Amino acid sequence: MKILSLELNNFRNYKRVNVDFDDGLNVLYGKNASGKTNMLESIYLCSIFHSPRTVKDKEMVLIGENKATVSLTLKTKYKKQTINLQIDDKGKKKVLVDNIPLNRAGELFGVLGVVFFSPDEMKLVKESPQERRRFMDVGLSQQQRSYFYSLQRYNKTLKQKNNLLKEWSKSRNIDDMLDVWDACLAKEGAVIMSKRIAYIDTLNDAASRFHNAISSEKESLKLSYESSLVFDNENIKKTNTEEIEKKLYESIVSARAKDKEIGYSTVGPHRDDIKIEINGKDSRKFASQGQQRTVALALKLGEVIIYKNEIGEAPVLLLDDVLSELDIDRQKLLLDMTNGFQTVITCTEFNLDCEYNGIYVMDGTAKNNKRNEYFMSALTD
Ligand SMILES: Nc1ncnc2c1ncn2[C@@H]1O[C@H](COP(=O)(O)OP(=O)(O)OP(=O)(O)O)[C@@H](O)[C@H]1O
Ligand SMILES: [Mg+2]
Repeated sequence: MKILSLELNNFRNYKRVNVDFDDGLNVLYGKNASGKTNMLESIYLCSIFHSPRTVKDKEMVLIGENKATVSLTLKTKYKKQTINLQIDDKGKKKVLVDNIPLNRAGELFGVLGVVFFSPDEMKLVKESPQERRRFMDVGLSQQQRSYFYSLQRYNKTLKQKNNLLKEWSKSRNIDDMLDVWDACLAKEGAVIMSKRIAYIDTLNDAASRFHNAISSEKESLKLSYESSLVFDNENIKKTNTEEIEKKLYESIVSARAKDKEIGYSTVGPHRDDIKIEINGKDSRKFASQGQQRTVALALKLGEVIIYKNEIGEAPVLLLDDVLSELDIDRQKLLLDMTNGFQTVITCTEFNLDCEYNGIYVMDGTAKNNKRNEYFMSALTD
């Protein structure tokens, strides 16, 4: 799928802006704090319904205004579509696809597929397991709405169970109630786990190929799903959903006494992780800055390939500020790898000799243009 155009009104530092995109490489360039990341954020929002930067949606409304809108047109192999999104100053969001309001956020998944990479994404490698779970959850939800709905049901039940463990651990009939929650957690949890296990298995192939190329074949990357259940790791890939459900239920029940003691649920996919090894070493502990960047990039590029294989169309690749960290050879290598995908990249300067659609961003304005032409028209306006 490809983005054709984007219109923003009162979004972040944009009063009103309208830009067009090409099928290949699109370069948003301009000075610091001009609005480049804001524009990528608005595209991400049309795909995932959440900002990659903030949980406070009202922050996306231009200060002093009461409503922001984002309108994006896209084409797939078969049709053109429009996404219209509104955020009010209380942070309430509404979204329409082809002018039809969506009732559930999950219905937006799959309309516009994106993979987003920013320097912040390096925390994927070294920070808490939560970041890596989010990576799997966003990737899988985009491919399968049913995954997102399972995750929603699991999280809702987990929250209710944790409240119960915290508030009522001494109550006499807590076990009857826990039996009901635990069966539900095991059922949804097993779906989540089996899909994640398959996802990481496929991602391992795709990401390690990219990693190998980016690291000039000096390093080898290995990914595996790390579960809070005790599986021996070779077996984990061969275990089917029913077996996982059984095992998960048993483990949740055997942790019950401890969970009541500490007041929250300690077993399940909400505690799982991705193990990332470079040349056999756990990169969550040992990766250098450069290695973290390479791994994070390889995971994201791998995500693009899996999405494309699964859905039959490539997602749009959003790359925020990745070039500044790379030398010219690596910049070229990266852009070679994005060949064939629609890519939107931000940078302050773009000096590579290749074909691209330039979008010049300046203080909350943006214009499809070559830099010099824009300067000229800015001077003569
Ligand atoms: N709700 C808002 N209303 C008005 N301005 C905002 C709002 N949110 C953010 N901004 C402004 O947007 C600007 C930052 O934009 P953005 O992060 O897109 O910059 P950038 O071009 O990506 O810069 P850099 O090159 O430094 O990454 C800042 O000046 C910030 O104050
Ligand atoms: Mg930025």
